[in-house]
Amino acid sequence: MTLKITPFDAPIGAEVTGVDLRNPLDQSEIDEIYQAWLDHIVLIFRDQSLSKDEQVAFAGYFGDVGVRATPKREQNEVANGYDGTIMLVTNQRDEKGNYIGSLQDGEMWFHHDMSYKPEPHKATLLYALRLPSTGGNTKFANQYLAYDNVPAEIKERVGARKVLQAYNFTMLEKIDPKDGLEGIQHQWQPTFVKHPETGRTALYISRLISALIEDLPREESDEILGQLIEIAEDPSIVYEHVWRDGDLAMWDNRCSTHARTDFPADETRLLRRCTLEGTAMIGAA
Ligand SMILES: [Fe+2]
Repeated sequence: MTLKITPFDAPIGAEVTGVDLRNPLDQSEIDEIYQAWLDHIVLIFRDQSLSKDEQVAFAGYFGDVGVRATPKREQNEVANGYDGTIMLVTNQRDEKGNYIGSLQDGEMWFHHDMSYKPEPHKATLLYALRLPSTGGNTKFANQYLAYDNVPAEIKERVGARKVLQAYNFTMLEKIDPKDGLEGIQHQWQPTFVKHPETGRTALYISRLISALIEDLPREESDEILGQLIEIAEDPSIVYEHVWRDGDLAMWDNRCSTHARTDFPADETRLLRRCTLEGTAMIGAA
């Protein structure tokens, strides 16, 4: 088998074939995959068959496996024997009717994973175990291209300001800053970020988590955020991934957002997620 990276006919993403991720990789393969990931932002590895440990071992070639933001005592996964690094993205329930995982049902708005933390995780690796007959697709949006599409006057107005990234763990609703931030995970982040490895600038705004622009009247903040959100998820910069059994997606949270489409509530969807630790976001000069 030969490792093959084929860019999608899309503004983001590439398919990776010819590699069995259960096997050890040599340094040239690791380097090739990492560079392709930086270049294409989202990699989809096809036809894999990965245990939890094999998925974590593969992730570990590219960084330190991340610890989840949710406190351990609140993780359904920990109750099922996981160690605080794995998220099961699933609506599956156990025999008592309790959810075994997280982010259970239906649609989820565009977001960066963990933008509400001081050091958001740089990568997410999501592996498909069980898929519904339709829907539950993941949309990925290229935020380098989003930045390029921001009008100059908005870049000037908000470029130096920070944005409140706050998340209440719902999937279709953002927090309202006027209700306060008690118990809400939140972090002020740059509006535009400089990618620490590629040096490129990306928009760092999402519908789900970006709540307020610093030092602006609420009305003005809402208006500009609304414009930026439209730019951030414009269909021209989006690739919609229709999952296949055995797909492993690995994406860069510093320069992309993702969203989930709805799927039938009476069907099971199960994916296994781990992440890689990241560093504080750097504002673009
Ligand atoms: Fe996510």
